[in-house]
Amino acid sequence: MAADIIIGAQWGDEGKGKIVDTLSEKYDAVVRYQGGANAGHTVVIGDKKFVLHLLPTGIFHKNKINIIANGVVVDIDELVKEIDLIEKAGIRITPSNLMISENASVVAKYHKILDTAKEGRKNDKKIGTTGRGIGPTYVDKYARIGIKVKDIFDDKVLIEKIKENLYEKNFILKNLYGEKEINEEEIFNELIKHRKRIKPFVKNTIYELNNLLLKGKNILFEGAQGALLDIDFGTYPYVTSSNPTVGGVLTGSGISFKYIKKVYGICKAYQTRVGNGPFPSEMESGIAEEIRQKGGEFGATTGRPRRCGWLDLVSLKYSCILNGLTDLIITKIDVLSGLDKIKVVTDYNYNGEKIKKFLADANELAKCKPVFKIFPGWNKDLSSVKKYADMPVYVKKYIEFIEKYTGVKVSYVSVGPERRQILKK
Ligand code: GDP
Ligand code: IMO
Ligand code: MG
Repeated sequence: MAADIIIGAQWGDEGKGKIVDTLSEKYDAVVRYQGGANAGHTVVIGDKKFVLHLLPTGIFHKNKINIIANGVVVDIDELVKEIDLIEKAGIRITPSNLMISENASVVAKYHKILDTAKEGRKNDKKIGTTGRGIGPTYVDKYARIGIKVKDIFDDKVLIEKIKENLYEKNFILKNLYGEKEINEEEIFNELIKHRKRIKPFVKNTIYELNNLLLKGKNILFEGAQGALLDIDFGTYPYVTSSNPTVGGVLTGSGISFKYIKKVYGICKAYQTRVGNGPFPSEMESGIAEEIRQKGGEFGATTGRPRRCGWLDLVSLKYSCILNGLTDLIITKIDVLSGLDKIKVVTDYNYNGEKIKKFLADANELAKCKPVFKIFPGWNKDLSSVKKYADMPVYVKKYIEFIEKYTGVKVSYVSVGPERRQILKK
């Protein structure tokens, strides 16, 4: 029995969806433990492309249990839309392949309004959120007024909680943001709209998960976002409001550390970021646009163009340390084909001093100037390479440098969006 973990080692969008879909064949269950519909995990199967926001990415395989655990913030309307979409593609979703924690937090309309209203305020720092209500929902969870999935099945509890919430929210909406007040009935109707539909999936997932582990089953945890967006370890305040890093697995699902075996860090062969915040290795606009087009670097959730940069090994090493990564999986190496030179950041120049330390505080990181090592490029199209041994020598040199710098082995290299486009190293 083992619990293995997939963690984004950068600022999200590393290709976690593709990797979870590919690796989940070997597991009995796939679990989302944090985040919510801010995630956009892409899976390409033949000529079909799916983007999952809330459903775990094991859903495309038969006989796998997909669990949305307690650490997730669930937008029920979005979840039902996603279930419909997947069912339309011919995959049946039943209580034997989907479970939702009764303790997961629920996203309501006012969370999304507050999220965008805060971002719209002239004098506030704009984080560039996905507008999915993630921050405000986690705020309520920690303020101990959050609505949990189980609450939507008890009218009395639900009405009381909505009242308690709106008492505060309406004051803020009206007086701080000049927004319309929201009425209780509207939120009540919103939250109960799909309750009959989702009831069969709602479980105490702590026991479900631990029973699976006791029975010797293998579980894959699917992180959303990435280590550098972590609320505690990321580039604060330009972060998300959850813990994508390894600790989030325990608090977000209720399993013990003793089951954890492998912690895979997913890392693009370069680096991207959506939203605001410092990005020391960000490329100049010409080359960034080339990579954006070649790599299809547009947000899977919001469609926003992703900012593109060179691989930053200072930040990658930080992710390795933070999460105790046992393996790295490098994705999108195919996108770098055809470049004369490939740059990687090995140090920062910070106030005239060369450092290898990642300064997660946004103001400090903004002062860090990249120190690059330059690698020769390669011309070969990598998308149809079948064996790692057949990779061009300069690709191998690049991968080996990543291993040497981080001290973590690269166990797979992904060369395209499809399932079969992955090479074991
Ligand atoms: P996630 O949020 O980490 O799951 O990543 P996204 O799905 O948001 O973004 C990754 C994008 O890269 C998606 O469009 C994937 O289909 C695509 N992708 C994943 N791996 C590879 C790869 O190795 N090569 C190429 N060219 N595209 C990839
Ligand atoms: P996946 O799982 C990339 C970014 C947003 C913003 C910041 C805060 O697909 O890798 P939030 O809506 O979470 O309050 O926004 O975090 N962000 C992501 N960036 N991939 C994601 O998820 C992201 N989820 C949030 O762009 O900068
Ligand atoms: Mg994504």
